[in-house]
Amino acid sequence: MNQYQLAHHRSVSERDAFWTTEASRIHWETPFTEVVDASRPPFSKWFVGGRTNLCFNAVDRWAKKQPQDTALIWHSTEVDRENRYSYAQLLAEVQAVAAGLVELGVGRGDRVLIYMPMIPEAVFTMLACARIGAVHSVVFGGFAAVSLANRIDDARPDVIVSADAGSRAGKILPYKPLLDDAISRSQHQPRAVVMVDRKLAAFDMVVGRDHCYETLRQRYWGVEVPVVWLESSEPSYILYTSGTTGKPKGVQRDTGGYAVALATSMDYVFQCKSGDTFFCTSDIGWVVGHSYIVYGPLLGGMATVLYEGTPVRPDGAILWKLVEQERVNVLFSSPTAIRVLKKQDPAMLSRHDVSSLRALYLAGEPLDEPTATWISQGLGKPVIDNYWQTESGWPILSAQPGIEQTPLKFGSPSFPVIGFDVRVFNESTGEQLPAGEKGVVAIVPPLPPGALSTLWGDDQRFVDTYFSSIPNQQVYSTFDWGLVDEEGYWFILGRTDDVINVAGHRLGTREISSHANIAECAVVGISDALKGQVAVAFAVLKNTTAIDSDAQRAAHEADIMRQVDQQLGAVARPARVYFVTALPKTRSGKVLRRVIQAVCEGRATGDVTTMEDPAALAQIQEAVR
Ligand code: PRX
Repeated sequence: MNQYQLAHHRSVSERDAFWTTEASRIHWETPFTEVVDASRPPFSKWFVGGRTNLCFNAVDRWAKKQPQDTALIWHSTEVDRENRYSYAQLLAEVQAVAAGLVELGVGRGDRVLIYMPMIPEAVFTMLACARIGAVHSVVFGGFAAVSLANRIDDARPDVIVSADAGSRAGKILPYKPLLDDAISRSQHQPRAVVMVDRKLAAFDMVVGRDHCYETLRQRYWGVEVPVVWLESSEPSYILYTSGTTGKPKGVQRDTGGYAVALATSMDYVFQCKSGDTFFCTSDIGWVVGHSYIVYGPLLGGMATVLYEGTPVRPDGAILWKLVEQERVNVLFSSPTAIRVLKKQDPAMLSRHDVSSLRALYLAGEPLDEPTATWISQGLGKPVIDNYWQTESGWPILSAQPGIEQTPLKFGSPSFPVIGFDVRVFNESTGEQLPAGEKGVVAIVPPLPPGALSTLWGDDQRFVDTYFSSIPNQQVYSTFDWGLVDEEGYWFILGRTDDVINVAGHRLGTREISSHANIAECAVVGISDALKGQVAVAFAVLKNTTAIDSDAQRAAHEADIMRQVDQQLGAVARPARVYFVTALPKTRSGKVLRRVIQAVCEGRATGDVTTMEDPAALAQIQEAVR
């Protein structure tokens, strides 16, 4: 066996010994007494009895050991500003916010919702929550009022921290009106709102409820806020993600398992050490941002780059310029970002010195071979495709150069990451499949440290959603198709459910269709050269006189799109809305989404013998012709 195989084998077959060693990467205020308690499957509790704190491990440890080392580097090409914070400064900022939150009555286990753009204050707030044992729930700034209101009602935050505005591609996006609208729509009312004022958009303060971030910060500057030691399985955060139903799922993360998993990944997956500089282009509203903008690099004692901007402004060389300027060692981005760059002048790739870079990591959606080859050759660096999910918290499949430099195969995220017992199952028989056969990718419990511990407030939904879909097996379904080739390389072949992936953003198609005039709607993901997939909607209207003329039809389509923007956010906006009088369904009434998708992509529809009304499919063929 080679080194990788040995390590992976040991992580699963000698689980307790393996993770005991890895757990020493973090500080335990009280040592754990049991490595994993899996006595109530499929639940697992890691490092039972151990007491620790994410903020202490990410900030205090380094502030003591290497106070002047850079912790956070902020670059904004939106407002043309940059700022950097040493570990000592980061600790001071975090304590000031933590003290402010304590003044507002936030304590252990209370939720704080963070609805913020990519600014340092967002990172300070996340870490401040971790410090005092509060559970943060970051909501992506691109989500609009209805999405936000759903999350407020589910997480029931005591406090919401926000900012006047974000900015995207030079356009100011005011947040406060959206936030006020969301709070007015939600049943749960936060006790307080804390506002960062970037002076980008004027806003109203609600007397008695709204507070100024800067005032609190100044009031508590220099105050020491003690760390609250949490039992390892106490929650650190909730992060909402889309599934098959219209109701987003609150992925709940523990404390100790997550800290150990991320610290381990920084070494084995990312080959990083303290003092390195890590640049992840995701957003703090997504799991990649939680794990690899905020917690992972800081747990590793590294400098992390927080970037507010796009990959093409002021020009397509900006990422490489930042790599050169900050001597970035590892860049983590998405295939869509690279496809966007591919459309730019190729000279952009060689304009800057990227010799500090060891590798480029890409995740979040399938990485196509031409894009991987283009960027890998252009940079002269390895491109490491890694596959994971909001639920897993860190990579499930990836090359692990920190253990062994295994050859890369384009199109494959290589092998299972240590700790993940991943297998492929037949979706109807539950049989485990041999190499070469396509099936559902699943993880045999106990899930490794760092993976979700449950869904917030809904243990039953956790079990029913993830552990009940593969017959005769209580295994975690990823809801992705996959296969393993003869050499052991894994391939991910798309979702088995209604989730689509637009530009690396995970969207639930059921959430998209709620216009007052829509009787019924099917939203499908159609392959797109730039974004991977785009959403296309087929709507059956209640009142069809609204689309009597071509002009009315176009206006109605625009109106539906506008409503998606206002309710869910522009990320969820479908690329097209087609109007039909019926949707193709099975005789039992299930919409044949896969058949619709095949028609839209110009592929053969396969077996449609179960279809109730062939005329409905003909309408779709006609609509997209
Ligand atoms: O379908 C898979 C796809 O993105 C889904 C998870 O999305 P999200 O929860 O937003 O987490 C992203 C974390 C990186 C997966 O179920 N996906 C993610 N990475 C890859 C991928 N599909 C193919 N290749 C990947 N590397």
